[in-house]
Amino acid sequence: MQTEWRKEKYLVSTDRQKLDVAAIHAFLSQSYWAEQIPQATVERALQHSLCFGLFDGNAQVGLARIISDYTTFAYLCDVYVLPSHQGHGLGTWLMECVIAHPKLQGLRRFNLATRDAHKLYAKFGFKPLAYPDAHMEIHKPSIYKTTANV
Ligand SMILES: CC(C)(COP(=O)(O)OP(=O)(O)OC[C@H]1O[C@@H](n2cnc3c(N)ncnc32)[C@H](O)[C@@H]1OP(=O)(O)O)[C@@H](O)C(=O)NCCC(=O)NCCS
Repeated sequence: MQTEWRKEKYLVSTDRQKLDVAAIHAFLSQSYWAEQIPQATVERALQHSLCFGLFDGNAQVGLARIISDYTTFAYLCDVYVLPSHQGHGLGTWLMECVIAHPKLQGLRRFNLATRDAHKLYAKFGFKPLAYPDAHMEIHKPSIYKTTANV
């Protein structure tokens, strides 16, 4: 099963041992979707996910995280490329690796949520919800700001 992809000086790897949890936490805790997330929460989420780390040498410069049963459903989240590496096709390449992964084939539903990166995901077939009224959620956007959630 392919777990590594290389392009010029960059590496995409699904080896969880390679992940730099502190670097990932530094980005996510400032992001619009996970502001103030505790590092221990990031670490636990990574442990239970299929993670696509993006590396420049050994330096963690991006991530995509998949939550899935690897059979019927997958959810894509925590996608980022550090600002200093953006605009060079790395986000697109990271998504190519996700879409090509053998454990993510034949799914009935592949979901994600984004504020402004629709263009990136549309390249891979993602569309707005066909029946948004059919979807429900429990969403606690302030959970990391209001509890000691470790
Ligand atoms: C979204 C993101 C991962 C794209 O990474 P990237 O390496 O810049 O992506 P690419 O160079 O492959 O470009 C993909 C698309 O992203 C957009 N994009 C590229 N550079 C961008 C930048 N500096 N700022 C905003 N959008 C940008 C463009 O629409 C581009 O589409 P195009 O190829 O038709 O021009 C990156 O901008 C990022 O990490 N943003 C902050 C975190 C975020 O919002 N993540 C998505 C959460 S759902």
